[in-house]
Amino acid sequence: MNADQLTPFWSMWVAVITLGVIFGCLALLLAIRKSEPHKEETDADTGHEFDGIRELDNPLPQWWYYKFLILTAFGLLYLALYPGLGSYQGLLGWSQEGQWQAEMDKAEQEFAPVFAALAQGSADELAQDPEAMKVGGRLFRNNCAICHGQNAKGAYGFPNLTDSDWLYGGKTENIVATLNGGRAGMMPSFAHLGDETIEQLSHYVVSLSGRAHDINQAALGQPVFQQNCAACHGGDGSGNQMLGAPNLMDNIWLYKHPNLTVRDSIKLTLQNGRQGQMPAFDRLGQDKVKLLSAYVYSLSQ
Ligand code: HEC
Ligand code: HEC
Repeated sequence: MNADQLTPFWSMWVAVITLGVIFGCLALLLAIRKSEPHKEETDADTGHEFDGIRELDNPLPQWWYYKFLILTAFGLLYLALYPGLGSYQGLLGWSQEGQWQAEMDKAEQEFAPVFAALAQGSADELAQDPEAMKVGGRLFRNNCAICHGQNAKGAYGFPNLTDSDWLYGGKTENIVATLNGGRAGMMPSFAHLGDETIEQLSHYVVSLSGRAHDINQAALGQPVFQQNCAACHGGDGSGNQMLGAPNLMDNIWLYKHPNLTVRDSIKLTLQNGRQGQMPAFDRLGQDKVKLLSAYVYSLSQ
């Protein structure tokens, strides 16, 4: 949890306990010092003796006493300057996030010319440049691999970027547009058509890519498809890259659930709809977007 997420109560709680402990220790120290019977070292003892070892009744050593005072002052100064007391931000305005951001900005400034130099020329040209593609691959592993995989082959709901099947088009300008704007797939739910119709539709959809299907069921699904699905997926099921509606004829499935058959996965899609979200990456700047797009393009060549 972040300090600035503390409620005022817990913020006060932390601050009061922290200051209470510091001032409590200080008060204890001063009280002891005041109650000491003599200020100088003497030979007086407390009367305790064991095995010939006597406990002397001497004052606190000066060096120890002053060290304690200095450390207390340091602690209070630190708590005034830096965040430490609940959600109090400190006089210096320092924060972990701020320091991280400053380091990122510095790295950004340092490396911007490097990326700019690498990103000369069009994305199509960059895809032929091994040096640029090495950097593109590194950018991909840092920014994209969590969703699309180290090898860019995708996973359930995350498209394979190494094949020639594209939701939104595989030309470099399509990929640049995907990265700059992000993409939001919108496949509505058709649960209202009922289980029987969804069963028929699923047979028809798998028939489009030549998979095993029940001919009678598929024949019943065909007119329903024309009526409900053709607007987005096309009359023949070949898809529409303007909408990101997948080609249903190529036997490549974005939503093939690992534990279900293709047809059962399709039924799940029809029941629930699908909303794939590709985040926008324009914040990386256009040099990196170009390098990444060229890299993704090169994977499918
Ligand atoms: C948070 C997960 C996530 C991250 C991170 C991510 N993507 Fe995606 N990406 C997706 C999803 C989900 C889709 C499919 C969107 C849809 O279903 O409409 C997608 C789609 C795409 C497409 C379109 C594929 C096509 O067939 O048209 C490209 C290209 C792409 N991503 C490239 C990248 C690159 C390059 C990066 C890194 C800069 C990246 N993605 C990072 C989730 C992600
Ligand atoms: C409004 C446009 C739209 C309509 C209407 C529509 N779809 Fe879709 N469909 C999409 C989009 C967009 C996706 C991709 C969703 C994503 O990327 O998350 C998709 C995905 C799918 C998928 C998943 C494909 C895969 O590769 O896993 C199937 C199957 C499917 N649709 C079948 C149908 C059927 C059958 C109908 C008619 C009952 C239909 N769709 C109606 C837009 C539509």
